[in-house]
Amino acid sequence: MFRALLTERLQAALATCSLNLPEGFVPAVSLASDSRFGDYQSNAAMVLGKALRCNPRELAGRIAAALQVEDCVSKVSVDGPGFLNFTLAAQALESRVAGLLEDASLGVPKAAQPRRIVIDFSAPNIAKPMHVGHIRSTFIGDALARMARWVGHEVITDNHVGDWGTQFGMILHGWKSGLDAQALAKDPIAELLRIYRTMSSASKTDPALLEACKAELVRLQQGDEENLRIWRECVRLTLEQLQRVYEAVGISFDHYLGESFYNDALGPLVQRLLEQGIATPSDGAVVVFSDGKLPPQEDPFLIAEKDQWKPAPCIVRKSDGGFLYATTDLATIEHRIAQWGAQEIWYVVGAPQQLHFRQVFAVAARLGLRARFVHIAFGSILGPDGRMFKTRSGETVGLLEVLDEAVVRAQREVDGREHGLSEQDRAQVARQIGVGAVKYAELSQNRLTDYQFSWEKMLSLQGNTAPYLMNAYVRTRSIFRKLEQPFDAASATLQLAEPAERALGLKLCQLAEAVHDVLADQRPNLLANYLFELANAYHAFYEACPVLKAEASIRASRLLLCEATSRVLKGGLGLLGIEAPERM
Ligand code: ARG
Repeated sequence: MFRALLTERLQAALATCSLNLPEGFVPAVSLASDSRFGDYQSNAAMVLGKALRCNPRELAGRIAAALQVEDCVSKVSVDGPGFLNFTLAAQALESRVAGLLEDASLGVPKAAQPRRIVIDFSAPNIAKPMHVGHIRSTFIGDALARMARWVGHEVITDNHVGDWGTQFGMILHGWKSGLDAQALAKDPIAELLRIYRTMSSASKTDPALLEACKAELVRLQQGDEENLRIWRECVRLTLEQLQRVYEAVGISFDHYLGESFYNDALGPLVQRLLEQGIATPSDGAVVVFSDGKLPPQEDPFLIAEKDQWKPAPCIVRKSDGGFLYATTDLATIEHRIAQWGAQEIWYVVGAPQQLHFRQVFAVAARLGLRARFVHIAFGSILGPDGRMFKTRSGETVGLLEVLDEAVVRAQREVDGREHGLSEQDRAQVARQIGVGAVKYAELSQNRLTDYQFSWEKMLSLQGNTAPYLMNAYVRTRSIFRKLEQPFDAASATLQLAEPAERALGLKLCQLAEAVHDVLADQRPNLLANYLFELANAYHAFYEACPVLKAEASIRASRLLLCEATSRVLKGGLGLLGIEAPERM
């Protein structure tokens, strides 16, 4: 990784400059904002100039003189107010790119300290449809898991499905009074949803029905055999159907420990919270209040109301004895740390649950549960009209529906092109494009912003889309199909002579930096952006530098570049959980 290498060299140089460096100072190195000045830049001299009250340009000159980079950099310059700019040596770039072809991890170095990370994502609720919010969690979580594994972390994926909750009162009553067995066999999730909705709306005007539903829930919680049997059946049917969705998108989990798995742990947990003085009884309930150790703005147990800080306790047991979402999450953390040795737990869950997680993490810390907890929040998906994404009938859109529609639309595009693919291959390619387009539309967005769903945009061959990247990959592959003889990579030597070749070579070396940046703050869109830039660099190269018509040694070198691009594009898309078709 050139960025890391330059950072190290800068650190070494700084150590010899007899400067009074601020504690823990690490010089920042980034891609050059203007490629005319170089490939990478550092503002270290400017930051230090301010801290040490000395002239930044002069300091930059001293650092440049002390730098030992002859093996990898051809030019160091001091520009503007004190920027250090680095131009990589062609030879260093060439050997890096050539090295990519031999490296199964595509130049991405292993993490210095591998961690055991539990990633909690997808987590739909039983007897409720998996909606677009779950799409974001599913795709982001899966991409992060792939990347974390790629750099050598030990990742445990856990689907914390909502398989225990008040919805089961309605479902049990509906199951007993009006289940359509045929509909259940055909589409269990839809039928469970129907009975849930029927009961839920009818009970709004029928207090007796509401009571009957509540009574079913109590019986379930008390361990009634009949109700447990129905509940188990609901869970089984739903998971079976969910598996099909996950299979369609190529995603799997190490565990499916839903909320119900923790039922027996909840009572003792609340007991311990009380004994340790972390929780207190309050109006019959058991709650956790602020311990006053944080400034109010940062305290998750306080909310601002009319210029005043009011308590916002975390409830762990209701006055009717029932436990809550937060109680289950605390038990889940205990399990993940005690049983799996989790050092980090990442939750890929929508932004509206931010307060929930801040409270849970704070209570866990008070319980002495040591791990790094990260809430990886995301915004909403908006429909083409800019409002919450809904189907015409007003339902939230289900993931399977979205995928099916994407594949149908992709199929139309593929069928309209001339490429001599068999019907079976066309169907396969349409599936790869459709599923890949939906995933990429998600993963190329900054997760925190709401984004607008658009079929046209996500399936377009132009712009930052999956089809555009796939098409770049297909171009790299089609060159090799045009060769009369198989390409012998071993006898070729890579030369980055033309500017477009050099720019592509430099991009190819930066996958490592993109993956590193994604994992630093869990933003898969940084990898997507990188792949888009790589595809652009490849197209620019393709326009500027003839490959097959070039003289033998140049042609061989350019084929090496095509091969490296092909691997990085395919590998990078793979890290996002996206398959690249060989033709399209
Ligand atoms: N089932 C929840 C929902 O749909 C998400 C669960 C997320 N994970 C967790 N450990 N709380 O909102």
